[in-house]
Amino acid sequence: MSRIAYVNGRYIAHRDARVHIEDRGYQFADGCYEVVAMRNGVFIDAGLHLQRLRRSLAALSIAFPMNDAALMVVMNEVARRNLVREGFVYLQITRGVATRDFAFPGKARPSLVMTARSKLLVDPKLMASGIKVITIPDQRWARPDIKSVSLLPNALGKEAAKKAGAYEAWQVDRDGNVTEGTSSNAWIVTKAGEVVTRQADQGILNGVTRLGLLRVIAASGFRLSERPFSVAEAKGAAEALLTSSTNFVVPVVRIDDTPVGDGKPGPLAKKLAASYADYAAIGGSDKS
Ligand code: PDD
Repeated sequence: MSRIAYVNGRYIAHRDARVHIEDRGYQFADGCYEVVAMRNGVFIDAGLHLQRLRRSLAALSIAFPMNDAALMVVMNEVARRNLVREGFVYLQITRGVATRDFAFPGKARPSLVMTARSKLLVDPKLMASGIKVITIPDQRWARPDIKSVSLLPNALGKEAAKKAGAYEAWQVDRDGNVTEGTSSNAWIVTKAGEVVTRQADQGILNGVTRLGLLRVIAASGFRLSERPFSVAEAKGAAEALLTSSTNFVVPVVRIDDTPVGDGKPGPLAKKLAASYADYAAIGGSDKS
């Protein structure tokens, strides 16, 4: 099957999909994106993704002239044309094409690109083994809460993880606290049984999976604290996990060279992963 992409109003063969070399996304990373997971042909928390997209666009002063209902039509169509039932849609909006100049152009039309890919969102192998993370300094700009396409530090971090035989890199701020992964949010479970994840301030992306898991935790009655945690606290924790749209909830069993707990996926991490999968199976909280 040949893949189909959406580019500014047209569905075209993926191999022929192009944007102009003076698109500001290419020149300045002047744009933002979303990765929306789909399971059983249903988007998971699409409403929260679109809400975050609107927030990112507003923060970058990109006036995007398509409403959420129209965006959903295109998202569903891109998934359908690529035969995706389980996987994700990637959606990117940039400020558009303009002669290279740092200041915003007078009248550029925002570019919208979408692709879709099938992917197993709950990988039984990863769930059984758990994953290793390394820790790296957080070298990003000061607004990672905006889901911008400016992802070079994230790519460098993921490459460092790969070279170290790890799955993810947890970024660490100047105070020694974990901010988040390069493409996921970070969580621990303390020995006292409290689930901890950093508060969603300007220092992290407020993950849609993070928000979904917070709802699952609230409904299950587990103890939760949204606060900073240090690398030392994470290494001494009972359990650790990460969340993202493309991996849902995955147990973390090693941080740098330190096993977390007994070095196996923890019981609460497994429970949360299963509960989140149930939550996702019906489209999350908004069933879009
Ligand atoms: N990344 N933090 C960062 C830096 C991320 O890039 C992501 C997602 C997350 C988790 O957010 P969510 O639960 O909404 O997926 C946290 C996506 C999957 C990506 O860039 O491919």
